[in-house]
Amino acid sequence: MSTTVELTKSASYLIEQDYDSYTEEQHSVWAELVRRRMPQIREHAALEYLDGFECLQLPYDRLPNLAAISVRLQPRTGWRATPVSGFMPGPAFFEMLAARRFPTTTWLRSRDSMEYTPEPDIFHDVFGHVPMHAHHVFADFLAHYGQVCSRIEDEAILERLGRVFWYTVEFGLIRQGGDIKVYGSGLISSDGECSHVLRGGCEVRRFELEAVLRTPVKVDEMHHLLFAIESFDEIYDAMHVLESRINRGSRLED
Ligand SMILES: [Fe+2]
Repeated sequence: MSTTVELTKSASYLIEQDYDSYTEEQHSVWAELVRRRMPQIREHAALEYLDGFECLQLPYDRLPNLAAISVRLQPRTGWRATPVSGFMPGPAFFEMLAARRFPTTTWLRSRDSMEYTPEPDIFHDVFGHVPMHAHHVFADFLAHYGQVCSRIEDEAILERLGRVFWYTVEFGLIRQGGDIKVYGSGLISSDGECSHVLRGGCEVRRFELEAVLRTPVKVDEMHHLLFAIESFDEIYDAMHVLESRINRGSRLED
């Protein structure tokens, strides 16, 4: 598995994680965030997420060292958690996904905003996203997503593909043992979002690619509709369907 792809569009966003500069207060905020999320996660997260969490040995009481996580993750699926300076435009973001390097922020929310941050922080990125990258099918799906998106310039097509990302990577659900489990980072990392879904505040439909493509993303309200897969093969296959449709000239509109 090649992991030595040269990054060009994203190169200027790459930074080092200055691990020694984290304060004891920041480590303690991380520990508190993990302590608050774990009971719900143990009960309601997808098995694949829990497996990834264990495989990466994410720390409970200290902020994670991204290099140490990558040492455990890369031999398994080729993915790394790569520190970046913050928000990245699409082409740079997709280039990193295609190279199996997850753009990971290094800043952490403060104690006054434990539940919500307008932009992703290291808790959202590492606790929310990175454990899924240890799962082979999800890992291949996400790299393929990056490959497909990095070849597209048409904003309308990218907007449709953004819906696929939103309803899987960010807010994905899976049915396991008759129950709805969460694997999307926005649900994993947020008690409010996750509890809203688990309490039945949101319709959960069987994942169906056409329905996902028809459902716009709304970032400023709780979800009314989310989609549950039965297995990660479904989203892996969906990306191949999308790729061939795009190759045949479809703009993924109705
Ligand atoms: Fe995210």
